[in-house]
Amino acid sequence: MDENRRKEILSQGRPGRYWPAEPMLGGWYTEEEVEAATKAIRDSMDPTTVGFGFICPEIVDFEEAFARYCGAGEAVSINGAGTGLDMAIMCLDLEPGDEVIVPAINFRAAAMAVVGQRGKVVWCEVDRRTFNMDPADVERRITPRTRAIFPVHMNGLSAPMDELLELAERHPHPKHGPLKVIGDAARAGAGGYKGTKIGAKGWMTIFSFHTMKLMTTLGEGGAITTDDAEAARRLRGIRQFGGAHDGWGTNYKLTKVQAAVGLVQLRRLDDMTAQRVQAAERRNRMLQGIPELTLPYEPEGYEHTYYLYTMLVPRRWAGEKRDRLLRVMEEEYGVGCGVYNRPVYEDSGYLRRQTAGQKLPISDELSARLFCMALHPLMTGEEQEYMAAALWAAVERIRSEG
Ligand SMILES: Cc1ncc(COP(=O)(O)O)c(C=O)c1O
Repeated sequence: MDENRRKEILSQGRPGRYWPAEPMLGGWYTEEEVEAATKAIRDSMDPTTVGFGFICPEIVDFEEAFARYCGAGEAVSINGAGTGLDMAIMCLDLEPGDEVIVPAINFRAAAMAVVGQRGKVVWCEVDRRTFNMDPADVERRITPRTRAIFPVHMNGLSAPMDELLELAERHPHPKHGPLKVIGDAARAGAGGYKGTKIGAKGWMTIFSFHTMKLMTTLGEGGAITTDDAEAARRLRGIRQFGGAHDGWGTNYKLTKVQAAVGLVQLRRLDDMTAQRVQAAERRNRMLQGIPELTLPYEPEGYEHTYYLYTMLVPRRWAGEKRDRLLRVMEEEYGVGCGVYNRPVYEDSGYLRRQTAGQKLPISDELSARLFCMALHPLMTGEEQEYMAAALWAAVERIRSEG
């Protein structure tokens, strides 16, 4: 983006809306979703027959469509990804002292799920360019107590599943066999990996349909995909008071209206994602040439969905200067930026106490350097240009402050 153009854009002030650092995708419903929701309510109005049902046809149809979309054997819909992560870890039947390897640069949900089942969280480092679990570091942390590898498909980019699955086979648990690989794809629905969709590989993959995510079912919702039919039976049992599975269960269901809306959002998912990816690629071109910034990285064979647009400042700007850059963006240009995510042990005192003594120097370094600038498929071209020009100017300001 050349200097004259940047000056011209900024002289006109911020166009349109303020975008928070992690925008609400939930704003992107169409009349189709409204009609689907209304129809599901109208169809449920006779209290002597239908009502909202339990596992109603809308839920079954949505699950079949979602499994097909991901290329997975089955999909089990649930009320949120947090619940799904808990359910996946429940299915491991952890024994005291059992360990699960979790990337430290992460949202706190995966670690909460492990601790919630009395498991031990073993943090691992992430790759500096992808922010995804680093297989070499995972391998160093596998012990005879390791039961599972728990990657997050970070910010819309798939974790390196083939390498992780190979490690899982090569280092089996003495009693339970190959380690289970469980993917947290809360932020990565629609992402691609070597010709497959995220959700096709690994023992279980958990998706979120929360209002910020790539598709949404009226604010909350989620699904678990798996090829393991017995595990799917158990998940359905946990979701509905035991169901056909002879085991513990409660109520973690999606509603009929959410499933009806989910079917529409799923049909639109590729288009919504294509628009997001286009916006990210346009931004890549506009920010190219800022020497201090490392832009998002998409390895060969991966399809990034840019749930978040993550950048790095140089080491010499780590911490204070990165934070100052974000303040300038917010206060002087009105552009939302955030740090997604710091290592979980920095973010949650509870999880820090649970994992006391574990030090992750690469995660600590990245935590002080990374930041995300708001991205949304409904941003206008003017909004996109303004944000890019603002970032150029804010970086120049920090540079000039020495
Ligand atoms: C990486 C990750 N995992 C899990 C979750 C939890 O998802 P949900 O809000 O659907 O419970 C989130 C939500 O923000 C997330 O970002």
